[in-house]
Amino acid sequence: MNKDVSYRSARLLLRGIRREDAAKIVHWRSDPDNYRTFFDARPITMEEHLTWFERYLVDDARYDFMIFNEDGQPIGTAGLSSITDDSCEVSYMIGEKAERGKGYATEAVRLLTDVALRELGVKRVVARVRPENEASARVVIGGGYVESERIFTFEASGDFPLEQRQHRAFGGLAEAGRGAGH
Ligand SMILES: CC(C)(COP(=O)(O)OP(=O)(O)OC[C@H]1O[C@@H](n2cnc3c(N)ncnc32)[C@H](O)[C@@H]1OP(=O)(O)O)[C@@H](O)C(=O)NCCC(=O)NCCS
Repeated sequence: MNKDVSYRSARLLLRGIRREDAAKIVHWRSDPDNYRTFFDARPITMEEHLTWFERYLVDDARYDFMIFNEDGQPIGTAGLSSITDDSCEVSYMIGEKAERGKGYATEAVRLLTDVALRELGVKRVVARVRPENEASARVVIGGGYVESERIFTFEASGDFPLEQRQHRAFGGLAEAGRGAGH
């Protein structure tokens, strides 16, 4: 599988990530302003990235790209992951903060969505966006995406035990003897 592929849009070049991009990627990916927006919300080390990169090279289910602007400067990353015959997920980050607000993320998402539909042949591309990340929601809306589901998560948390949180949610019913099964 050749991952060293490139795609162009009006202003951008998306080029498959290489080992030599590691320093930029780790730098952007370790900035709290960036990683707090991800579902795996933590910084990464160079060692972790390089280990991940070796696995990535043989992983058929994802393609990641460096984004270069009109001046040839690397400004961020974008990718397609969880690729099946049917669907995949798009992700994006404009790591260079001075390059935000110029429509680059929207342009990158449009380009990769086109690649996914035409080249990978999927029927659906999904974007997962945290509720508070309005800029990211605007990006996919600008790319023609439509909000289609609400996902609720239960996060394990040391200072808020499971039973206590469930009791809060269902306590009223259970105390009144009207819980499920009664
Ligand atoms: C979210 C992010 C990718 C946006 O990149 P960008 O290139 O600045 O986005 P664009 O210039 O294409 O702007 C897209 C839309 O977002 C809006 N937008 C940009 N920054 C915004 C902000 N801070 N708050 C609200 N809306 C914002 C723009 O006005 C534009 O809206 P419009 O299409 O309705 O005019 C970039 O801020 C980023 O990389 N953030 C950190 C990583 C991240 O959040 N990744 C996505 C994880 S799901």
